[in-house]
Amino acid sequence: MTGSLTIRNGRMVLPDRVVSGDMIIEDGIITTIAPRVPYTVGEEIEATGLAVLPGVIDPQVHFREPGHPQKEDLVSGSRAAAAGGVTAFLDMPNTDPPTTTVDELHDKLERAAQRCCVHYGFFIGATRDNLEELNRAERTCGIKIFMGASTGDLLVSEPDALEAIFADANKLIAVHAEDEERLLERKILYQDSEAPADHAKVRDVETALHATKLAVELSHKHGRRLHVLHVTSEEEVDLLRATPRERITAEVCPQHLFMWAPDAYERLGNRAKCNPPIRTQRHAKALWKGLVDGTLNCIATDHAPHTTEEKSRGYQEAPSGMPGVEWVLPLMLDQVSKGNCTLSDAVRWLCQGPADCHRIPRKGRLEVGYDGDVVLVDMGKTRTIENGKVWTRVGWSPYAEWMLTGWPVLTAVLGNPVYRDGQVIEGVYGRELTFGGSQFSVR
Ligand code: DOR
Repeated sequence: MTGSLTIRNGRMVLPDRVVSGDMIIEDGIITTIAPRVPYTVGEEIEATGLAVLPGVIDPQVHFREPGHPQKEDLVSGSRAAAAGGVTAFLDMPNTDPPTTTVDELHDKLERAAQRCCVHYGFFIGATRDNLEELNRAERTCGIKIFMGASTGDLLVSEPDALEAIFADANKLIAVHAEDEERLLERKILYQDSEAPADHAKVRDVETALHATKLAVELSHKHGRRLHVLHVTSEEEVDLLRATPRERITAEVCPQHLFMWAPDAYERLGNRAKCNPPIRTQRHAKALWKGLVDGTLNCIATDHAPHTTEEKSRGYQEAPSGMPGVEWVLPLMLDQVSKGNCTLSDAVRWLCQGPADCHRIPRKGRLEVGYDGDVVLVDMGKTRTIENGKVWTRVGWSPYAEWMLTGWPVLTAVLGNPVYRDGQVIEGVYGRELTFGGSQFSVR
């Protein structure tokens, strides 16, 4: 079901400029953007004092369905997304069972239909021997390869198996780039450690850099479209900056931009444990620079909830990952309010970037003819994040106690308000996302 809205007097962040005025969304599509529209369609929303942005697209989440609904499912995850101004997400295949066949992929799509309150897309996971399934899958944003093991059993680490996928895959390949061999060697070195901060030593820069280098080489060699997930190091940013990029895009996560060692591990212990890990401030600075100069194309959260009980285990046993989908927009709006970037930058990294990387038609921009997925934000609103007062089912935030300025107040999906003044509105559903072909050029 599509909706119609008239949004009055907002500060609208368009692709090339910010203008004040009115926006009409008619039957789910943006039909008019003008200083003053003399008629009203659907509900009239007064947006004086608010900024109007395209809905955020989070291109990497782990919503745990099927398998671990106590951590998250497609309903709770999509509600957290809506509350954070996120109107579309791409979900990862390391569920239980993992999404490694067309049947599993279609099962997820069926689960999402009429249950997710924002738009959804799913990756299919590579194994050593499922290339036929990977290539048969049509309703997917791409192939996910875990080059190093993380949560779940998905792993393709052998160079010959990786090469076979890059040689013959018919769609975008997204890599979790950590070198399994080095990882296993280093795990042994730290097998008795109980210090969460050692996580960045086990999964060191070389571990990430080796794998990213290999993926880049394979992409060049086979002319394959590559997306490097969650880049974490200065060295990887330098590598990506120096390599031809016609077919290669990359993303960064807020936990790697805004947290660093040792501070994050001292404050959060195992709650800061994630793969690839949070590193020193040198890397966080380089990642920000990479975002600003366009080396990194977009921001993803890698929303990966684990329970407080799991995170309170010892370092060796605690799983890796942290929730994030509901705070990525406020975190970036806070950067805008601090003067570290502009609203247009935030929109480029959170909305246009993911839409371009994944060739999602009609999304990521406020433009006539684009879908009416929008978020109204109050740049004057300051709120402190509190554990327990969050949307993710695991009930905690790595950003607890952070006071941020700039919060979403209304999120709409195809012209239907789905989140408003702190409440998720029942009965609004997103749609299955569609994706462009394997040809690619960064706009
Ligand atoms: O820290 C992480 N957690 N990194 C991943 O790659 C997977 C994720 C999860 O699913 O828990």
